[in-house]
Amino acid sequence: MAHARTILYLCVVLATLVISKSTPQKTIKLSSGHEIPVVGLGTWQMPSEAIDVAVTSALESGYRHIDTAFTYGNEEAIGKALKKWFDKGNKRQDLFITTKLPPIGMRGSLVEAYLKLSLEKLNLEYVDLYLIHKPFAFVKDKYKHQPALNEDGSVVLDLDTDHLDIWKAMEKQVKAGRCRSIGLSNFNRTQLLNVYDHAEIKPSNLQIELQAYNQQREMREVCSLRNIAITAFSTLGSPGSSSDKRTRIYKSLPKLLDNPKVKRIADAHNKTTAQVLLRHATQAGIIVLPKSTHPDRIRQNIGIFDFELTDDEVKLMNGLDKGEQGRIFHFFIDKGVEKHPQYPFATQLKNEKKTE
Ligand code: A2P
Repeated sequence: MAHARTILYLCVVLATLVISKSTPQKTIKLSSGHEIPVVGLGTWQMPSEAIDVAVTSALESGYRHIDTAFTYGNEEAIGKALKKWFDKGNKRQDLFITTKLPPIGMRGSLVEAYLKLSLEKLNLEYVDLYLIHKPFAFVKDKYKHQPALNEDGSVVLDLDTDHLDIWKAMEKQVKAGRCRSIGLSNFNRTQLLNVYDHAEIKPSNLQIELQAYNQQREMREVCSLRNIAITAFSTLGSPGSSSDKRTRIYKSLPKLLDNPKVKRIADAHNKTTAQVLLRHATQAGIIVLPKSTHPDRIRQNIGIFDFELTDDEVKLMNGLDKGEQGRIFHFFIDKGVEKHPQYPFATQLKNEKKTE
């Protein structure tokens, strides 16, 4: 009898181990040696009041990766939600937290101070990934951590931007243990290669807009050859901001979440269009950061590992790509940004003017 009970007990332990082995999210190994979960919670435009519910329901739904940035203004709220999670006995090492150096911190001499500020707000001793948020730089306002503005509302550009000097300071942060991996965001091919070719610690991640209308084929090739993992933002087509005048998307395209081709694939799998869009990216080895403040959508957005797109479906999804014409974000939210010498999409702007 005692023997049977021991066997039963061992079976339960084994089953628990199997379940807990399969429940953790899929991860990708970065060139730094650290694992990044392929689905993270995006938090851009997520107000501090919404963070507690969003972060807590994400963690409870199995997310282990949260993405923020100094400029999002919600690091402190994220830090509070994380503390609650740790107070319940959960461990820091099981989470992957990303934050980013703001354009007002784009000098080698400022990197450490801005990372320390982020760590203080997040209430963490290190972040898993620290990214240079954007390749261009702004002068800081005298009183607050915001860009200084000219009288016409345009940002005051800091024209003296040296990516290699900034990268050296990023590398120092890894050596000091304040971040585990470092990378770039919104850099174009030339800017990325410049950093990569001169780096002692190579960038292990590039975070860029990547969605079905702008599939970033060229950057994917460049990164795959160099073992740089790609993290996509706006994989759902950023429905919350595509009607915003400061962003542009190829006018005749339907909203991604309403695209009839995506809808047809979703129906075939009994999934939502959001899940198909996220699955399409992750199935190709891309890390995604769907943002939602609604617990049901947060759960839905990570429910993408129990189905697979067929080769024909992948082909159909690949066919939605419009390249640069499908880009949503040009950063015009910062008036005058395109005049910065490191503005990454200059060629695209010229082409667009011709066709508009
Ligand atoms: P909400 O926060 O109200 O849920 P992206 O990640 O492409 O930037 O998209 C984020 C936007 O998509 C947010 O406006 C979010 O709205 C919305 N969203 C997130 N998940 C879903 C979903 N599963 N279905 C529909 N809309 C979603």
